[in-house]
Amino acid sequence: MNETMVRPATGKLGIMCVGLGAVTTTTIVGTLMARKQLAKPIGSFACDGIMRLGKGRDKVYKEVKDIIPIAELSDIVFGAWDIYEDDAYEAALKADVLKQRDIDPVADELHAIKPLKALYEKEYATNIDGPNIKSGTLLERTNALREDIRRFKEDNHCDRVVVIWIASTEKYVARNAEAHDTLAGFEAALERGDTTVIAPSMCYAYAAMREGCPFVMGAPNLCVDMPAMWQLAEECQVPITGKDFKSGQTMMKTVLAPAFFTRQLGVNGWFSTNILGNRDGIVLDNPENFETKRRSKMSAVENILDADVYPDLYSDIYHKVRINYYPPRGDEKEAWDNIDLFGWMGYPMTIKVNFLCRDSILAAPLALDLVLFSDVALRAGLSGIQEWLSFYCKAPMHKDGDKPVHDLFKQFAMLKNKVRELGGYEADQELD
Ligand SMILES: NC(=O)c1ccc[n+]([C@@H]2O[C@H](COP(=O)([O-])OP(=O)(O)OC[C@H]3O[C@@H](n4cnc5c(N)ncnc54)[C@H](O)[C@@H]3O)[C@@H](O)[C@H]2O)c1
Repeated sequence: MNETMVRPATGKLGIMCVGLGAVTTTTIVGTLMARKQLAKPIGSFACDGIMRLGKGRDKVYKEVKDIIPIAELSDIVFGAWDIYEDDAYEAALKADVLKQRDIDPVADELHAIKPLKALYEKEYATNIDGPNIKSGTLLERTNALREDIRRFKEDNHCDRVVVIWIASTEKYVARNAEAHDTLAGFEAALERGDTTVIAPSMCYAYAAMREGCPFVMGAPNLCVDMPAMWQLAEECQVPITGKDFKSGQTMMKTVLAPAFFTRQLGVNGWFSTNILGNRDGIVLDNPENFETKRRSKMSAVENILDADVYPDLYSDIYHKVRINYYPPRGDEKEAWDNIDLFGWMGYPMTIKVNFLCRDSILAAPLALDLVLFSDVALRAGLSGIQEWLSFYCKAPMHKDGDKPVHDLFKQFAMLKNKVRELGGYEADQELD
């Protein structure tokens, strides 16, 4: 019998979501329905994944939850912050992702999830506005977030709390050496309330870590992607993960690009465009917010199609990413990719991908897994950036100078090897 190095998941796990919009409500409703056995948590590797352990004659397949202790869905308590006052039931209806018949069986539990007042700065998401916001200096509001976490934990008798940002994409913030490179510099900027370099998401991350909670960044915000936050994560001994859920178009890109690289097919153009009409789309309609998303969506192709290895094949890729706000489509995003390739003797070819997806349906299991595995990481005593969770992220966090892994199947191998390691088994390079 192998010994896991992860402390058991005893007691309640609090999940505090920043933002109670489409992805959050879809995640909450699906989780509540799954624990009533009224839906299946399809797409959640933490809940339903099966993987190989051992090699040759010793090979066995086990459920992930039988290899490492993962919190039971019945032990989860949800909380949220949002700038709007709608409770989770009203927010789920407004998000218009799920049918009312799939929401009503858990209506009572959803009504009980009332959003806490948000720490919000209009300049970071100019296209939305709501009344449910905290007042005071930036530091006072950040301390109020810490108080929210403590009270939530106490009121709900939680053993542990994980905080996840599933709120709007903030405007692009460039790394600022003075405020972002050291924890002391960050705290000084927070104290003087410098909102040009301290975004709301950074305040939530800071509050979470100071309260001993793992933090997950589901949007492309800079937030924990800076040395100050890495230092804080080590000081507080908490795991951090991000950034940006790898749900639809980028998931496809990180499957296709490795295929071209492996076959040594050249690429000279990759045009990606999307239409979506949800609240996320309204926010991204602002060029400053889109810039944050664009950078996150761009990184995978350049990383996988490595021009340092094959300059003739990949040094001149015209890569363009567009997101268009188109209200009639709601959450049912449509993504198109046009990829211009060349092969033997330079002859051109084109691939077209048309993904008619459901944004929040794809993102919900990623959000749940990120939270469940972050809780595993905390109980395993892991802290700082959790590269093994890159599988879920569009722009995986990494230290300066390190190269992130974008290839979906390499990321999956990393995830499974960490599960093996945490479960007391040997990591391996076997083919499954
Ligand atoms: N759906 C996907 O496939 C996907 C993939 C990757 C990333 N994301 C990101 O996930 C995030 C959530 O997406 P969504 O579709 O649920 O968006 P949404 O607009 O439906 O929900 C976001 C919520 O965040 C709230 N909010 C904004 N600023 C806040 C603050 N400072 N504090 C508290 N709440 C705040 C908004 O009021 C809104 O209700 C977005 O950043 C999106 O880019 C989504």
